Amino acid sequence: MGLRNVRELGDDILRKKSKPVKEMTPRLSALIDDMFETMYSADGVGLAAPQVGVLKRIVVMDVSGERDQPIVMINPEILETEGEQTGSEGCLSVPGKHAEVKRAQRVKVKALDRNMVPFELEGEDLLARCIQHETDHLEGIMYVDIKTGPLLDNGAEEEEEGEDGTDGPSDQ
Ligand code: NI
Repeated sequence: MGLRNVRELGDDILRKKSKPVKEMTPRLSALIDDMFETMYSADGVGLAAPQVGVLKRIVVMDVSGERDQPIVMINPEILETEGEQTGSEGCLSVPGKHAEVKRAQRVKVKALDRNMVPFELEGEDLLARCIQHETDHLEGIMYVDIKTGPLLDNGAEEEEEGEDGTDGPSDQ
């Protein structure tokens, strides 16, 4: 148990494609626990295994803001997307930065839970954004590749009360 070192943009491992998980092992279970601990300690809403240097198709997320809705997705596959949203996005692997990224507004994903039991999940808004951001990580894609605006420093300029009064970008 413990915090894992988060790899940063420029590290080759973030550009590699992750491999499917075939079976749960004590080692992978410990990895998942560590990923949650690492994500929560950095105030992130999502983290993918390659971000901690493990090329496995494992994602953890919690967009609740209360740290009480942890979601594990193993071998996630997006089945459907719908609509469009444009908003600020950050990443624990690109610390201190954010940019505008266009994403689907709603997604449906299938995955395995940490007991390797299949489930489907539908998300919209931030959850949909997070699902897309994290599944991209498993393909070696970073949000900076697909951003629709300039890469900005957090805390610079007007900052980040969204028009709707929501918080600024959440790191994923
Ligand atoms: Ni990220």
